[in-house]
Amino acid sequence: MSYPFQIKSFEEYQQKYKESVEQPEQFWADVAENFLWKKKWDNVLDWNFAEPKIEWFKGAKLNITENCIDRHLAEKGEDAAIIWEPNNPEERTRIVTYNRLHKRVCQVAQMLKNNGVKKGDRVCIYMGMVPELAYAVLGCARIGAIHSVIFGGFSAQSIADRLEDAQAEFIITCDGAYRGEKVIALKDVIDDALRGNKTVKKVIVYTRTRTPVSMIKGRDIWWEDEMQFAEEQVEKDGKIFFEAEAMDAEDPLFILYTSGSTGKPKGVVHSCAGYMIYTTYTFVNVFQYQPKQIHFCTADVGWITGHSYIVYGPLAAGATSLMFEGIPTYPSCSRFFDIVDKYKVNILYTAPTAIRSLMSFGDKSYKDNDLSSLKVLGTVGEPINEEAWHWYEEYIGKKNCPIVDTWWQTETGGILISNLAGVTNSKPSWATLPLPGIQPLLVDENGKEVTQPDEDGLLKGNLCIKFPWPSILRTTYGDHERCRTNYFATYPNLYFTGDGALKDKDGNYRITGRVDDVLNVSGHRIGTAEVENAINMHAGVVESAVVGYPHNIKGQGIYAYVIYNGKKAADELTKKDINVTVSKVIGPIAKPDKIQFVSGLPKTRSGKIMRRILRKIAEGETENLGDITTLLDPSVVDEIKKEKV
Ligand code: PRX
Repeated sequence: MSYPFQIKSFEEYQQKYKESVEQPEQFWADVAENFLWKKKWDNVLDWNFAEPKIEWFKGAKLNITENCIDRHLAEKGEDAAIIWEPNNPEERTRIVTYNRLHKRVCQVAQMLKNNGVKKGDRVCIYMGMVPELAYAVLGCARIGAIHSVIFGGFSAQSIADRLEDAQAEFIITCDGAYRGEKVIALKDVIDDALRGNKTVKKVIVYTRTRTPVSMIKGRDIWWEDEMQFAEEQVEKDGKIFFEAEAMDAEDPLFILYTSGSTGKPKGVVHSCAGYMIYTTYTFVNVFQYQPKQIHFCTADVGWITGHSYIVYGPLAAGATSLMFEGIPTYPSCSRFFDIVDKYKVNILYTAPTAIRSLMSFGDKSYKDNDLSSLKVLGTVGEPINEEAWHWYEEYIGKKNCPIVDTWWQTETGGILISNLAGVTNSKPSWATLPLPGIQPLLVDENGKEVTQPDEDGLLKGNLCIKFPWPSILRTTYGDHERCRTNYFATYPNLYFTGDGALKDKDGNYRITGRVDDVLNVSGHRIGTAEVENAINMHAGVVESAVVGYPHNIKGQGIYAYVIYNGKKAADELTKKDINVTVSKVIGPIAKPDKIQFVSGLPKTRSGKIMRRILRKIAEGETENLGDITTLLDPSVVDEIKKEKV
């Protein structure tokens, strides 16, 4: 498979960018010609950001799994689609060829059908990083069911909220998942999440860890039994067949929940055609993927990065995608690089937080590794500091690999701003240039485009995008108004990203971080309001305020100011109790790193918490706290400063 839309030079990038802005419809229609359609589109694009209404390739019919699997079978049926590396390096590796993937996905589709799953039904997937997770996702897509993958680190309560919001009727899970030394009892968590649930009819359980599970009659069924039964149905005369559902281009493909500035996560909805085209286009261009290369994205399929650059993008491009079950530090800190050497990985795509964590082991993580197979390195999820960037480039890339710093979001579906490996220039800690089709601009508080550079010659503002691209979110599940107010109402006719950015005179962008009440902890997106709600549920807590502070490894840490029973002092044990509560309500990823008990919070006379002050104190600033005269009780600030943890 060659990629006619792969950009090969900086001049070509400039040319394509220009075309994509001047004739976006023609540009994307040309890219779309490289996919398999059951019926071509009537109209390339229809949009307005006011509602918002965004429709790409309306009228077209397709199935994304035929693009990710079937169309590759003739040429590369026996090539590896997925290479799976288990948590325990002693355990057997699994190589899933395109032929095998086809068979398994057809079986899952048949299994789902046998159990009453229909097009449009919501299927929640809560599994560890096993190939069956990819089969489950693709099996849903094959029959047109809408999958909603939930990261294995979320608690029962979080799952219950998501099941309720999505009105999910089916769950696919595992008995347990391996993560380093730990076994996480996933089915157990699902059982807790299902107490009181009224919508879920069936739970399909894949056996991974042989953790004992309770199987409820009439509701819970084993994956293995169902798959065996389905196998007989899809295999006829040595041929595998399960007709892929003809989906409209704009039918929803999946829901993925993500945090915003309010307490309740939102279900970002992506649609079939646009998402497929954009993830494939960006995969091939950003990483400059060449046929037969091995692409290793270390993300979890529970996050958008795993959806777009482990499953859909690479498979639609006919690539080999490496899927890793475990964690970077098990059984030792060289695990990522041992995997790179074992399979001769060509592209490594990971998060700055993982890089910083491996850096903290000195040269131990890479000194015994060869790493010469690597051609391209990538980062995603949070700003990368220069020190980490240089370490990655020098010790892992051996100064031979371009680093792509890819900026994007759950809502954008694919990478929006990034250099193209070896084709456009990199700049340490800068995401650099927008991809073709992406029209960013920086605005001030009032929505006016920033045009005046600061004393360093940089433009500084809030990052917006003024024109739709194929994989922009279409709605937030069950609440379109929320989608409008969250993303399209802050600045009229613009998609607002929630990020702040700088732009240099060459047009490069540097993302400086969120400007809303969203934290980025180890590359995980967490809303401060969500954490506050969880803390406030703890008995004895009167009120809390959560802010982020710079953290050497996680990028941002969570700092919680807590009023406890009206008293200032509570003890270390209470802090642990609060952490347990947060783990139960959201999941361990949202546990505060620091808790400070306070007797009051800095509030304005209208009762609004002045987070700016709390943020500065958490960052270690004691002097320049800005104007505090508008506070109801300014003395509270002195106390908070004095007792900072
Ligand atoms: O703040 C930006 C940060 O991650 C946010 C999106 O988080 P999420 O939807 O979980 O998706 C993460 C994976 C795509 C953004 O609003 N972010 C993501 N990539 C970068 C980044 N910040 C700086 N540089 C990046 N390369």
